[in-house]
Amino acid sequence: MGKYIIAGNWKMNKLPSETAAFIKDVAEVTKNASCEVVCCTPYVCLSEAVKAAAGTNVKIGAENLHFEDKGAFTGEVSADMLCDLGVNYVIIGHSERRQYFAETDETVNLKTIKALSKGLIPIVCVGESLQEREAGITMDLIAIQIKKAFANISADDAKKVVVAYEPIWAIGTGKTATAEQAEEVCSGIRKILGELYCPVCAKEITIQYGGSMNAKNAAELLAKENIDGGLIGGASLVAEDFAKIVDAAK
Ligand code: 13P
Repeated sequence: MGKYIIAGNWKMNKLPSETAAFIKDVAEVTKNASCEVVCCTPYVCLSEAVKAAAGTNVKIGAENLHFEDKGAFTGEVSADMLCDLGVNYVIIGHSERRQYFAETDETVNLKTIKALSKGLIPIVCVGESLQEREAGITMDLIAIQIKKAFANISADDAKKVVVAYEPIWAIGTGKTATAEQAEEVCSGIRKILGELYCPVCAKEITIQYGGSMNAKNAAELLAKENIDGGLIGGASLVAEDFAKIVDAAK
C-alpha cells in the first residue's frame, strides 16, 4: 500500500512568531518516526516552518495554492512561490475551502495538475456531508470527486498524489468515523483509482483518513488495510498529541 504519511493541517492557527519553536518541538518528538511527517501551515508561517524543519524529518506543506502561474490574482499564492520557499506538500480541496471559498472539483483538478507540474505533492481532500451519508450516496459522491480530481493526470503522476478521505461530519466535531466506516470508503477510493489507472498503481497511492483523528483512535484507524496515514487538524496543534499519532503509524 501507499507510503505512510501523517500530516498536520494547522488551518488558521498559530502565529509566524510561534512557528519555529513548534516545528522544532514536532521534529524532536517525531525524530524516530517510521512514516513521513508533514506540517501544513498557513502561508505566513511557511518561511519560518521550512527554516526550522531544515535538517529534520519534518516536511512542510501549504494549505492551498492557485492554479495559475502568476498574474492579477490579488491575495493568491502560486506553486512557484511555494517551491521557492522550499515547501514540499500542498493540501488541495479541503472541505472548508469547498464550503467557504467556492472550491470546486474543477479547481481541485487544476490545482492538482499545477502542483504536480511543479514537483509539489498534492494532498487532495474528498469527503461527504452527514446529509449525503444519510442519503446513502457517499460512494457515488466520492467517486465523482476522485474522478474529477484525477482528470488529465497520468498514472505516473497519479502515484505521487496523496488522497485524504475526510468525512465532513467528522471534522472538528470529535465524532470520528469508525475504523470500519473509514476503511470502507478508503478501500472504495482505492478501487476507483484501480479502475482509473490500474490496481498496481492504486496500491502505490497513499490514502489518508482525516476527521477527529487523535492519539486515542489513531492506531485502530491506521491498522486498516487501506488507510495509509492521517490528515490531522486539532491534534496536530499539540506536538505530543501529534507525535502519538505518528507513533501509531507503524
Ligand atoms: P480535525 O482533526 O480537527 O477534525 O480536522 C481534520 C481536518 O480537517 C484535517 O484536514
